[in-house]
Amino acid sequence: MITDPRIEAYLLDLAPTHDAVQADMERLAATRGFPIVGPLVGRLLMQVARSVGARDIFEMGSGFGYSTLFFARAMDDSGRVVHTDLDPKLSAEARQLLGRAGLASRVTFEVGDALEVITRYAGPFDVVFIDVEKVDYPAALDLARVRVRPGGFIITDNVLWRGKVADAPETYDAETRAVDAYNRSAFAAPDLLTTILPLRDGVALHYKTGETPRRTRPSSPRLMAPTPRSLHPSITIKKK
Ligand SMILES: C[S@@+](CC[C@H](N)C(=O)[O-])C[C@H]1O[C@@H](n2cnc3c(N)ncnc32)[C@H](O)[C@@H]1O
Repeated sequence: MITDPRIEAYLLDLAPTHDAVQADMERLAATRGFPIVGPLVGRLLMQVARSVGARDIFEMGSGFGYSTLFFARAMDDSGRVVHTDLDPKLSAEARQLLGRAGLASRVTFEVGDALEVITRYAGPFDVVFIDVEKVDYPAALDLARVRVRPGGFIITDNVLWRGKVADAPETYDAETRAVDAYNRSAFAAPDLLTTILPLRDGVALHYKTGETPRRTRPSSPRLMAPTPRSLHPSITIKKK
């Protein structure tokens, strides 16, 4: 990965795995050499989902459900995360593992091309997570952008693509070209506020701008009245 191994080890030590199903998934990924987001990015997924009060999440490329586990944990039973994968075996495995974690009832399992499956959902989603084949990233972004609500997030893994995006553009392979095109198009998008975190293999956070529900101000004049100076702890009233 792109971070200094010492820093990676330090960060992993701060966020140990306590959950048995999560630990089993991490062992499974290590044994098979299967690419999961890992506990640090998993935590970020959960944090973003919680911070926007997510109840509707769509995942593009879910594997055996490791990233799904963090999204499902971020919500209560009224929330729903759509798990998608091309591979029916991975989907069945995810169903079994998330069932063991007691979270399967929060997950809708879809087998097929996530770029096609998402078109069957009108949205809006609070969060869309992209982790499919890298050549499909630009198309996935276009599909996600119109289905995530203002105030929600698109989150995308591997956007620094093992550091290859920093190589000379003329040496790019097809995947690196697609990831670079994805990043450039996201930064140029007027409706997205984008940051790339150099965590693990690079994670993009795209905040969807636009109309968001505002907090209603208290209408009662009494509630709106400024605090009397005598009650304000930081103001000393001089005695005459
Ligand atoms: C990097 S793995 C996903 C890992 C998962 N997000 C996690 O962190 O646990 C990518 C997965 O996406 C699936 N995939 C790739 N292209 C896809 C597509 N167009 N639609 C659905 N699944 C896809 C692959 O089968 C693979 O399981």
